Amino acid sequence: MHERSDADWNSSVDLYEYQARDLFEKYDVPVLPGIVADTPEEVRAAAEKLGGVVVVKAQVKVGGRGKAGGVKVAKTPDEAEAAGRAILGLDIKGHTVKRVMVAGGARIAQEFYFSVMLDRSNRSYLSLASYEGGVEIEVLAVEKPDALARIAIDPNAGIDLDKAREIATAAKFPAELVEKVAPVFVKLYNVYKGEDATLVEVNPLVLTEEGDIIALDGKVSLDENADFRHPHHVELEDKDAADPLEAKAKANDLNYVKLDGEVGVIGNGAGLVMSTLDVVAYAGENHGNVKPANFLDIGGGASAEVMAAGLDVILGDPQVKSVFVNVFGGITACDAVAKGIVGALAELGSAANKPLVVRLDGNNVEEGRRILAEANHPLVTLAATMDEGADKAAELAHAAK
Ligand SMILES: Nc1ncnc2c1ncn2[C@@H]1O[C@H](COP(=O)(O)OP(=O)(O)OP(=O)(O)O)[C@@H](O)[C@H]1O
Ligand SMILES: [Mg+2]
Repeated sequence: MHERSDADWNSSVDLYEYQARDLFEKYDVPVLPGIVADTPEEVRAAAEKLGGVVVVKAQVKVGGRGKAGGVKVAKTPDEAEAAGRAILGLDIKGHTVKRVMVAGGARIAQEFYFSVMLDRSNRSYLSLASYEGGVEIEVLAVEKPDALARIAIDPNAGIDLDKAREIATAAKFPAELVEKVAPVFVKLYNVYKGEDATLVEVNPLVLTEEGDIIALDGKVSLDENADFRHPHHVELEDKDAADPLEAKAKANDLNYVKLDGEVGVIGNGAGLVMSTLDVVAYAGENHGNVKPANFLDIGGGASAEVMAAGLDVILGDPQVKSVFVNVFGGITACDAVAKGIVGALAELGSAANKPLVVRLDGNNVEEGRRILAEANHPLVTLAATMDEGADKAAELAHAAK
């Protein structure tokens, strides 16, 4: 039972189930394999990789996913893909499902509940546990309060094996199961303590037909005030909030900032890209007031790979109507850049669907222009100068608006 009111004024950050699963794994808490997927095709691939029965689970930061149709068992990759199609895009209490986790399927014999959380009013920690899991814990707390053990945890002592046995016994686990779940409680406490969490909740913790104890679902809230001790937490928190294009750029080590216009801009070197934005904005005044769509500096090495990643990010912006590639060949000479552009377009195939204006200058420029002219790509226009390129790109963006 998470005291949500605490989270409101305390800066806690809730994690997705898959992130909680990853943390659990790091602390040796028994979990099943899980692979995240953003499309039905990825769900199928994940199901094929895992093999056997899988469970496709909506990744949204809200409870009651199962009841809302966000948790589906799939026996075959076909079924998994269909489940992915049904769950992705689903609205669960106002949260649109953009990602699912494909988890190994457990053969459940029994479901239990365990949590440990910050107990602010008592300046302590509190552990809740129940032998009767599988129901919403809020409901259990009201309807069968005796079935829910509430054990105060001294923050200095934490949950060692003895304390874990005390919790399990108070939660009415039979003796032989106490010995099985207690070590898992200790590991879950290690997650809580080690990650500076304000909540670690497992509902359900299960006993499988095979006799194993497994955390099948996980909810973790992290204390943002402790982020300085956990550099990797920032990553867990930002992933979703950030603009998806910026996240994609970051994943490819590209220096990208989304702006509000229609002309995508790629350049090498921050200074060159900045002045390109100015020139595009100026040229746009003569073409329906189109504006630069982004800042993107691909840096010194303009390889086909980097160019493809950059173009992929920019073409993924639905606002973009044309792209201006403005590169000054230095250490990476213009011929290499030109090969990069040709290679990127080949790699992107039909994903490259907007006109590109390319201006090359600097080291080995003649050879660079020759390569582009020879490739004769229908989407590419060559420009001799930066002003000419900006003007052409603005004109094309305006025409496509
Ligand atoms: N990997 C799995 N294998 C088999 N059954 C599963 C698996 N994951 C979940 N289930 C079943 O589905 C039920 C709901 O799953 P889960 O607890 O993860 O979601 P939820 O409780 O609906 O959502 P939330 O925890 O966000 O409220 C579980 O109680 C369990 O019976
Ligand atoms: Mg659950």
